[in-house]
Amino acid sequence: MPVTAAADPRPPLDPDRLTALLSGLGRGIRVEVLEAATSTNAIVAARAREGAPHGLVVVAEHQTAGRGRLDRSWEAPARSSLTFSALLRPRVPAGEWPWLPLLAGHALATALREAEVPAGLKWPNDVLVGDRKIAGILMERVESQDGPAAVLGIGLNVSTKTEELPVDTATSVELATGAAPDRTELLATILTRLVDEYDAWQADEERTAALRTAYTEVCVTLGRKVRVELPGGEIRSGTARGIDDGGRLVVDDFAVGAGDVVHVRGAGRTEE
Ligand code: BTN
Repeated sequence: MPVTAAADPRPPLDPDRLTALLSGLGRGIRVEVLEAATSTNAIVAARAREGAPHGLVVVAEHQTAGRGRLDRSWEAPARSSLTFSALLRPRVPAGEWPWLPLLAGHALATALREAEVPAGLKWPNDVLVGDRKIAGILMERVESQDGPAAVLGIGLNVSTKTEELPVDTATSVELATGAAPDRTELLATILTRLVDEYDAWQADEERTAALRTAYTEVCVTLGRKVRVELPGGEIRSGTARGIDDGGRLVVDDFAVGAGDVVHVRGAGRTEE
């Protein structure tokens, strides 16, 4: 009997197919796939400082020093995830940059929904399925000779098993849906959505209002009881009421622009 090789449970990304899937996108998008990297955010930030133009995307099959929000780390076994960073050079006024992390979260959650993953957003941009985190976003501002740039880093758990998750409140696409998707196709779907939403946002005179409406529809924090740890360490609690003009989360009588928001367990949406 012929011996057939078992299918690779974690096949590598296919750069040629990715290029073909993104060929209609144009607009300066260039994707580089690395077998291993410290942190794709660190690599793209360095390239931004050297003058790399808008649209560079660096993907790593394995990160050895992945960075998370609030000085946390981001770890994932090789080929279990999508870990990548994109270089953006926004043309919108600096005062509108705080909307970028929210735009990225909205685009990622929407792409996942297109791929049949029932994703929602915890403010500002943690992607959840139910109450479990499936993806995180780290946006960093970089100063360069060509002006300020934004490095958008995304980590999405794809085929991560329960015992491989960094915390027991996390999940992966495979755990949430019962099947591991083709990562090349999923990455193309996410990048396409990101580029489409970013370009539409930059071109729209009414961009803040439009994004606020779209974001509100997928933000599962709204209406929930939350505990907020502010950057200085102060803890405040209340009900998340809305998103203000600056993209901040309005919690009762105060607004949060940065900090760690926790959905209080056992407390669902508060209907007014
Ligand atoms: C979070 O803490 O939720 C944000 C996690 C962001 C992780 C991604 S993985 C790709 C990119 N490179 C990094 O070093 N971090 C981001």
